[in-house]
Amino acid sequence: MRRRTRQSNERLSWVAVVGLFACGDAVVTPSAGGVQSAGGAEKPPIAGVFAAGTVAAPTPTVASTSQSGAASVPPLAASGVPVGGAAGVAGTVVVAAGSAAVGSGVTYHKDLRPIIEARCLGCHVEGGSGPFPLDQWDKVEPYKGLVVHAVELRRMPPWLADASDCTKLRDDQRLSDEQVALFSSWQASGFAVGDEADFKSIPSRARPAIGEPNLIIKAAQPHKLNPGQEYYACLQVDTRVTEELWVTAMDLVPENAEFVHHAIVSVGGGSCSALGTTAENIYSYRPGSQTLVFEKGDALRIAAGSVIAIQYHYNTKFAPRGMTLPTDHSAFRLWTLPAGQKPERAIVRMPHHDLLINIPVNAVDQMEGGSQAISSEYTRPGAEIIGISPHMHYLGQTFKETVRKSDGSTVCLIDIPAWDQDWQLDYLYDPAHYIPIADGGRVTQECMFSNRAEDQGIGPDGKPFTPMYTTFGEDTRQEMCLGYIWFRYPLSGAL
Ligand code: HEC
Repeated sequence: MRRRTRQSNERLSWVAVVGLFACGDAVVTPSAGGVQSAGGAEKPPIAGVFAAGTVAAPTPTVASTSQSGAASVPPLAASGVPVGGAAGVAGTVVVAAGSAAVGSGVTYHKDLRPIIEARCLGCHVEGGSGPFPLDQWDKVEPYKGLVVHAVELRRMPPWLADASDCTKLRDDQRLSDEQVALFSSWQASGFAVGDEADFKSIPSRARPAIGEPNLIIKAAQPHKLNPGQEYYACLQVDTRVTEELWVTAMDLVPENAEFVHHAIVSVGGGSCSALGTTAENIYSYRPGSQTLVFEKGDALRIAAGSVIAIQYHYNTKFAPRGMTLPTDHSAFRLWTLPAGQKPERAIVRMPHHDLLINIPVNAVDQMEGGSQAISSEYTRPGAEIIGISPHMHYLGQTFKETVRKSDGSTVCLIDIPAWDQDWQLDYLYDPAHYIPIADGGRVTQECMFSNRAEDQGIGPDGKPFTPMYTTFGEDTRQEMCLGYIWFRYPLSGAL
């Protein structure tokens, strides 16, 4: 669960259409809603069947979206807005001892470009979620100082976890200290461009070959974006899944990445306001989210009878004046096992919350958290911890979670040295490092908060909030210290 925030009467509620692709069919829609185009490609059959006729009548009740009701978030790209080249941004020059970079002629083509191509172009291309492309020297040039600065601060690439003393992560995007040092040396030596012939690509994160999704969930109608606002819209899929679905991968593809700040998908509760209560949050989209792909043989269950709700958080406040806003028709995409097929292992998520948060005004580096035994619901025979999704709001500074196993050993689950509210990512481990937990254990999380004026989020008026006494809660102005721990366990018949 991420931020839920508006009163239900302020929500936009759409009728959802579940585009259902089956065997090269077009799309089956449960009732007279809008039909999604299937794109004509052959699709594998899917397991879930949605009962026809259970979709609510198309009553797109448009809510007032007064900004006062909307929780706010730092503006997308606020600090990333191209404000001149910022070539003169001062950066501490960190040169790692023994690094190849020391004193040598670091150049863009030889040293920087391979890293930028492997780690930045996933977002910094025309039309990507990054605020400007970085795919050619003349695109990089105006931002070179800013690039070095963002890399040195480890704001970019967005990947908050430091796995150096923690469990090894799959898809780790963090640059090594040596790579960061190269950016610093490059700046120190005057941003040399170098010779294009020196460029050698380095491997980038392999995209898993998972084919096309077999279930796509979209609103019945494209959503017309409200100008100059930051607001939430709730897409509620009232259609019930009539057969259980086993999800092997999922993602959310924003149609307009520029305006979709985040989206939260939950299952079970049946409404956005149930986020974090009865519903199970199964996926969160943030700029930079990637397709969440479970290992072969693993899948997450969506039970028959479940209701899916998607909460979109839009921000159009930074659209250029006079711009005609596009509509948004973002898609939540699921890859599922064929009907009737069960995976070898089931994936489940356990939320581990600290509910007793009390952060006085001006508190600095205040530690909150707590520990909890892992319930037997998760520690079934063969169970392993496969990852974690940490969550805090604006005042969060650091996040650390460990598990103490029954043999007394302690394993680090996640270590986030500098929390950033804008990047709520899912961290899955390298499968060779999954943590066996069948004998049970105790998880402990430590969340550090600061509540000074300079640590506040940005309000709808673009100004920082005034510090206030802060307790636990889902509103952005309240705080959370939450770790969703991902488990998997062999199905071996019973569920
Ligand atoms: C997963 C997507 C993603 C990746 C990968 C990524 N960026 Fe970004 N970048 C963004 C987004 C989105 C913003 C604007 C939002 C923000 O400022 O937080 C941004 C902002 C920036 C900015 C503006 C300053 C700032 O800190 O906001 C710079 C410079 C930058 N990125 C450089 C890079 C470099 C260099 C890399 C690779 C080493 C990289 N980015 C990788 C998405 C990405």
